[in-house]
Amino acid sequence: MQENQEKFIELVNEKIRNQNLKYSILTMGCQLNENDSEKIAGMLEKMGYKYEEDYKNADLVLFNTCCVRENAEERLFGKLGEIKKIKETKGTIIAVGGCMMQEPIMLEKINKSYRYVDVVFGTHTMQNLPEDIYKTIIEKKKVKDVIDIDGEIIEGLPIKRNDKFRASVTIMNGCNNFCSYCIVPYVRGRERSREPEKILEEVRNLAKEGYKEITLLGQNVNSYKGNDKIRNFADLLIEVNKIEGIEIIRFESPHPKDFKDDVIDAIAKCEKVARIIHLPLQAGNTKVLNEMNRKYTKEQYLELAYKIKERVPGAVLSTDIIVGFPGETDEEFEDTLDVVRKLNFEQIFMFIYSVRKGTRAETMPNHIPENIKSERFNRLKILADKITQSIFWNTLFLYPKSCSVT
Ligand code: SAH
Ligand code: SF4
Ligand code: F3S
Repeated sequence: MQENQEKFIELVNEKIRNQNLKYSILTMGCQLNENDSEKIAGMLEKMGYKYEEDYKNADLVLFNTCCVRENAEERLFGKLGEIKKIKETKGTIIAVGGCMMQEPIMLEKINKSYRYVDVVFGTHTMQNLPEDIYKTIIEKKKVKDVIDIDGEIIEGLPIKRNDKFRASVTIMNGCNNFCSYCIVPYVRGRERSREPEKILEEVRNLAKEGYKEITLLGQNVNSYKGNDKIRNFADLLIEVNKIEGIEIIRFESPHPKDFKDDVIDAIAKCEKVARIIHLPLQAGNTKVLNEMNRKYTKEQYLELAYKIKERVPGAVLSTDIIVGFPGETDEEFEDTLDVVRKLNFEQIFMFIYSVRKGTRAETMPNHIPENIKSERFNRLKILADKITQSIFWNTLFLYPKSCSVT
């Protein structure tokens, strides 16, 4: 695989060398998607393309897509419409990859209505990009490179990082949880963890290059599976914490159901692990949580949150919340507000429920009308603004300005 990749990098490089060709990447998704874009940029630069901030001036524009909510899709189609005109005058190569391309309906839509797209690739075939680009610029072929088989996490891809001090390190990919509203398990496949030694080697190299802050990434980081020596996420945190030069360790996203005592103890004893912990709630009502297939109750979530705050001195929480899940009543939504009031989250990422084709929630009864979803969203936002503002003032009084771990 790697040899094949290097062969095509070299072939493209020979062809475009000295032409001063430029690329732009539009990253539309989460941090994992961003980390993939850094690898895509690494491959493109090795092929001989130079980075261009403004995609209108680029010779190759690549969209790394997301499909977690409908608005992410709308953004892609809007941008594709804009770029069509530019392609007509400049002959820009257009590549579209990432999560959305794993959805058969979207693939078909691109095929039918956006025929000027040159390369389409999915989440399991990103590493073939040099070959795909070769086929399109040299053989002048349209390329569709999407498979539905979980790809291994590919080691050793070139990478061009976006920042000099903060770096993301993907530790696992995929999700086995099938929350009923969520498309991610369908487009990212089942959970695959990287070898712990490979992760530690990457972090050590980053430390040598001067990186200070590491974010360990995965759709479900705390279900990470290692080997006999570094068995799980708790062990991995302890090992990363030992790496000299790294000052702050973050992780994204944990699942409350896998937030076991060993993970809490590891955070407590690893001084480099940031004391802001993301604990996605999604909803505060047990019946809604059950319908969402989240595998915890309101009480279990609260108990876990209090346990983290108690055992990790200084810990504050951030969270994700979905409003307007099918069948959610006003009373049930009150439970979400109740949890928010009780836990004083430092930050809340709020989302209006968005139907995803093929998920279980799509066919659930009693979808909530848009006006009610918006009204609930606004109520949550008012509460969240109140809470986060009061936290901000408290923080000013409690911590000196130089405190870096927030
Ligand atoms: N693996 C992470 C979440 C990844 S998706 C976790 O379990 O926390 C990021 C966030 O998008 C989710 O936490 C959820 O709040 C939101 N989300 C996912 N699917 C959604 C949908 N269909 N409608 C609205 N929000 C959604
Ligand atoms: Fe989606 Fe749930 Fe998996 Fe998170 S844990 S990616 S919300 S299915
Ligand atoms: Fe979006 Fe894929 Fe991330 S669907 S949220 S880019 S895993």
